[in-house]
Amino acid sequence: MIMNKEQIIIDTDPGVDDALAIAFGIKAELPIEAISTVYGNSTVENCSTNALTILELAGGNVPVYQGAAKPMRGVNKLAESHGDNGLGGFSMDSGRRISEQTSLKHFQEVLERSEFGEITIVAIGPTTNIGELIEQSPELFKKTGKVIVMGGVFGEKGNVTPYAEFNVYNDPLALKMLLESKHPQIIIVPANICRQVTFIQEIFDKITNPELATGLAKISQVYIDYYAKDTEYGGFEGGVMYDLLAVALLVDSSLFNLEKVRVVVETTDPIKYGLTKIVSGNPNCEVATKVDANKLKELYVSIMNN
Ligand code: RIB
Ligand code: CA
Repeated sequence: MIMNKEQIIIDTDPGVDDALAIAFGIKAELPIEAISTVYGNSTVENCSTNALTILELAGGNVPVYQGAAKPMRGVNKLAESHGDNGLGGFSMDSGRRISEQTSLKHFQEVLERSEFGEITIVAIGPTTNIGELIEQSPELFKKTGKVIVMGGVFGEKGNVTPYAEFNVYNDPLALKMLLESKHPQIIIVPANICRQVTFIQEIFDKITNPELATGLAKISQVYIDYYAKDTEYGGFEGGVMYDLLAVALLVDSSLFNLEKVRVVVETTDPIKYGLTKIVSGNPNCEVATKVDANKLKELYVSIMNN
């Protein structure tokens, strides 16, 4: 449910599922103030180019600010399942350019001029940009409204190691800083819930705009094929559209159950690095515990045909 005057910044590493999530947010006419990019599914440079491509394909008029190229600490692991350029090899000459301003500077500027709680952040890549914002401008960060994070995994194995989900594995320190910031509106959408929402190519046949349908199908092909062949973390019928759930939470929160819990992150053990765990104690966030996957897929098709 979007409050009036709420503005959304999508922090993203596009990324195939990021692409579907961003296009969904645009077609849902969410008040997206900016796209902020981060490394993850590819280099931050590729992710920025991919963000411009997605905006061109989905018809979004949103500025793109480039963010972190590596984690706050340690080294990043680039994904393999999103194809060579991070977008399944798909590209368009959008004629668009990213902003000269960095993502961090933009976060600081927007929060400086915003009312308390107006800016919602949807983080669908490693949360490095948010960690750096907290570290450099803690008082400005406090002005943020909801912070929705696609990340972590509970009660199931990870998708990049047996213990860790990809976004958290890339920068567990950043997520730890967010959870320890005492921010009152953190919502985590974990991989174990996202795995209930998988897309096969046929869903794009239901999108009536031929250019949009063809583009999204081309973007998704490599990713869907990868999941079918990945015997370690795949084995799903279709590609897991993780990031779509984080944006869908803003379009129709009734599709989700949330639970207030305390989550901790492993930031030192080399084996369990990036593990997220629910522990006893005062809650520090809400975690999505259920999603109506069928209704979400129906909503996706309906919104994409807006
Ligand atoms: O683990 C899934 C997350 O990692 C998604 O955000 C996907 O885009 C990748 O970045
Ligand atoms: Ca992502």
